Amino acid sequence: MSNILIRPPWFVPEREATPERVYLGRREFLKALGIAGAGLVGTSRTGLAAADAVTAGRVPSGPSDAQRHYPAQRNPKFNPGWKLTDEEVVSQYNNFYEFSLVKNRVHQMVGKFVINPWKIEITGLVEKPLVIDMDELLQEMPLEERVYRFRCVEAWSMVVPWTGFPLSKLIEKSKPLSDAKFVRFETFNKPDQAPGMKGSNYPFPYFEGLRMDEAMHPLTLVATGIYGKPMPKQQGAPVRLIVPWKYGYKSIKSIVKLEFVAGQPKTFWEVLAPNEYPFESNVNPAVPHPRWLQSTERVIDTGDRIRTLPFNGYGDQVAKLYGKA
Ligand code: MTE
Repeated sequence: MSNILIRPPWFVPEREATPERVYLGRREFLKALGIAGAGLVGTSRTGLAAADAVTAGRVPSGPSDAQRHYPAQRNPKFNPGWKLTDEEVVSQYNNFYEFSLVKNRVHQMVGKFVINPWKIEITGLVEKPLVIDMDELLQEMPLEERVYRFRCVEAWSMVVPWTGFPLSKLIEKSKPLSDAKFVRFETFNKPDQAPGMKGSNYPFPYFEGLRMDEAMHPLTLVATGIYGKPMPKQQGAPVRLIVPWKYGYKSIKSIVKLEFVAGQPKTFWEVLAPNEYPFESNVNPAVPHPRWLQSTERVIDTGDRIRTLPFNGYGDQVAKLYGKA
């Protein structure tokens, strides 16, 4: 790859923004990222004390036999030449409430999380209900790398190379019936391995949903890796969803179940605060969150503040799904 940095169209030049790193040194800035991580804040059901026993150690990655699938070839259609976000920052700034509410603690709390063996159930309105083993899935699916922008509802963002395959390939395997209009996704339920789940008031296991046309869209990715390696536990190992035109909470981690349903399913954050985190949740700079603006976003490694684009910059591909093309 060339080392010339191609500025994306939404880049705000330095003179238009005062990045946090101007007044914080890099070390302090990275520390501040973690401390600032109060998260999808403020619902009355937030019942967790953030710090339990901290499992110290390096950033863990996936099972060793999964290593051989990485790195996968980058798909030239998703290789925009953008500067990638610093891998270390990405791997230590995580929303994964099953482990901790504090972003820079999540990676220290995943030590007991067992990701091998791992099975995914596909059920509901399908011709062929399935239970697929993760190793089989990796064997069977054509893994590729794609560089995507990722925008959290908390107004931070990153640019990362995901490894995975289109969700449509998995859906096709189970042959959904014509009355399947939505897919509901579910995360594991193992409080003994995920300290944030123990005694929590959150409605775990985490659940999400997509319309069928959103799920079948070629941008919607089942991700098994990042930065050319198996997915680290704190980022949703061994398998998660990536829906790049929607706020990050739609990209559910560590999936164990897909269920095809006729009616619109409820989602985790929608249940907690329906006026703040509705089902659709497409990135939209024109619609502020009830408690903060969505017109700009902070890049998590540099602190640069850049403009947020409609559909997170993927409008050309997806606006038509919403009658907006
Ligand atoms: N999935 C589960 N199961 N639990 C979570 O807490 N957080 C979501 C999403 N998926 C979450 C989840 C939110 S709010 C965001 S922004 C992204 O994961 C963060 O992904 P990252 O840690 O890879 O940046």
